[in-house]
Formats: sequence, structure tokens, C-alpha cells
Amino acid sequence: MRMRKEEWARRRALVEEGLLRELREDKAFDARLAESMKYSLMAGGKRLRPILLMAAADAAGGRGDDFLTSACALEMIHTYSLIHDDLPAMDNDDYRRGRLTNHKVYGAGIATLAGDALLTLAFEVLLRQKGVSPETLVRVVREVSTAAGPDGMVGGQALDLASEGKRIDKETLRRMHMAKTGALFRAAVRSGAILAGADDAKLAALTEYAEAFGLAFQITDDILDVTGDEAAIGKPVGSDERNHKSTYVTLASLDEAKSLAREAVDRAHSSLAPLGEKAAFLDELVEYLITRDR
Ligand code: IPE
Ligand code: IPE
Ligand code: MG
Ligand code: MG
Ligand code: MG
Repeated sequence: MRMRKEEWARRRALVEEGLLRELREDKAFDARLAESMKYSLMAGGKRLRPILLMAAADAAGGRGDDFLTSACALEMIHTYSLIHDDLPAMDNDDYRRGRLTNHKVYGAGIATLAGDALLTLAFEVLLRQKGVSPETLVRVVREVSTAAGPDGMVGGQALDLASEGKRIDKETLRRMHMAKTGALFRAAVRSGAILAGADDAKLAALTEYAEAFGLAFQITDDILDVTGDEAAIGKPVGSDERNHKSTYVTLASLDEAKSLAREAVDRAHSSLAPLGEKAAFLDELVEYLITRDR
């Protein structure tokens, strides 16, 4: 556990620095737009996706720190998804990352544009990644764009909206979670592996890890929406119930949700077996999924 905490803190600090660098506010066209992008991007957050990208590169035999630029690009996409997720037309939430949501401060118009801007800037940033061949970079861009788009995160968010107030089956719920949340985790891990030059066997093991990780992560997010502490999670508790969302907690029970998360966690652990010692940090990160309170 100690190793995890220190390594997490070190990488988080790298990501904070990297994000500030990549934002390049001086180049911004509109000051208020730039301010609102920075407001959400630099509001903290666990920085899990960038940390996973770097850790996957390590696990594949590369040097994760070399891929900070790509890692920051993923955090920009994630932050955009949160800004849009909170909008009145979506989950209509007032708090995120311990502060007022973007639209509460800047209005829905600028908040929408800040999301758009972070999404597009992410690809500009991704293309600034140094030290890899153009072929590798194209592969990563394909990975990330597919994961973020209609066949991934955005598609999952649409399914989430369509499922409000309905009783969907568990398979549909699983597909929704894998898309709205799992796809970006999958892209983070696979991008790290691809950047580090992973062979097919390592990529397959890490993909399995990421899919299990993403599922367990969204199940625990659903659980924390019921049992969490607002000050710790930095967003409202009870948002899913208010919006009549379909979650593992509403569809099954708190206990069943917990046991499904545990199953996914076990799968994530065992998927790492072929990677050995280099995957120790990824392995420790999995335990966090079950014990997290934020
Ligand atoms: C929240 O993600 C949205 C989901 C996909 C469940 P995180 O829990 O990673 O949010 P931050 O980045 O730490 O704020
Ligand atoms: C959203 O899921 C996943 C995203 C792609 C943003 P939620 O709506 O459950 O995320 P939170 O709980 O608001 O962070
Ligand atoms: Mg939502
Ligand atoms: Mg939400
Ligand atoms: Mg949630």
C-alpha cells in the first residue's frame, strides 16, 4: 500500500504540472472560455486515467513518465465529459470536485463550449507526444477517439439518458457501464501499452485488466452515489435517484452491487498474472476500487 500512495502522489503531481503546461492560457482566444476550462481541469480529481496510462506503460516494459503528454490529453477528455454530464440537460448537478459545477459559475453556454474545447484540445495535445513514431501515434489517436465517441463514452452516456426511469436488464446496464466509463479506462491502459511498444500478449492482458477495472469503477461510483459522503466525493449524493437512473444499486441491491464489483476486481487482479513484477502498481491500484471513499 505504501508504494501505491507515494507513486500515486508523485504521478498526480506530474499530471497537475503537465496539465497547466498544456493549457497554454496565453494562447487562448477568449479569456472567459480559458478561465472556465481551467476552473474544471485544475479542480483536483483523482487523475486516475492519466495515472493508469503511465502505469500501463511501465507494466508493458516502458517508462510511463515519458508519456505524460498523452496522459494529460486523456484527463482533458475526462474533464470535458464531467462538465457535460453535470449540465442541466443531463444530470443537472451543482457540485463537482468539491466546487460548484462549471455551468453554475459560467453558465450553460460557456460550460458547453469549455467541454467542447477540452475535447478538441486533447487531440492537439496528444499529437504533441514526443518520442514515438507517427504510426504509433496514429494508433493511439484511433484508440482514444473511438473510446470517446459514439461507440464508447458518448454512446454510453446516450444509453444512460435513454435508461432514465426505465427498468433495463442487467446486460444492458453492463453495456452502458462498459461504454460510458469503461471505454476511457480501456483507452488509457491500451494507449499506455501501445506507446510503450507492448506485444499482443501484453496488450491483451492489459485490456482485460482495464475492462474489469472500468466496470468495477462505475459500480463503486453507483454505490458511492448512495452511501458516499458528499465532502469526500466532492459531488452530490443521491443524484442517481433524483434522476431515476438505472444503476447496479437500483437494479439489484447494494449487496449485489458490492459483490459484482468484487468479482470484477478479482478479474482485474488475475488478468495481470502474465505481466509479473512490473505490474505491481496496477495490481495495488485495483484494491483501491473496493476501498475507495472518493
Ligand atoms: C467520475 O470519475 C465519473 C465517472 C466516470 C464515474 P472520477 O471518479 O474519476 O472523477 P474525478 O476525476 O476523480 O473527479
Ligand atoms: C458519468 O457517470 C460517466 C461519464 C462519462 C461522465 P455518472 O453520471 O454516474 O458520473 P458522476 O457520478 O456524475 O461523476
Ligand atoms: Mg451521468
Ligand atoms: Mg453524473
Ligand atoms: Mg455517478
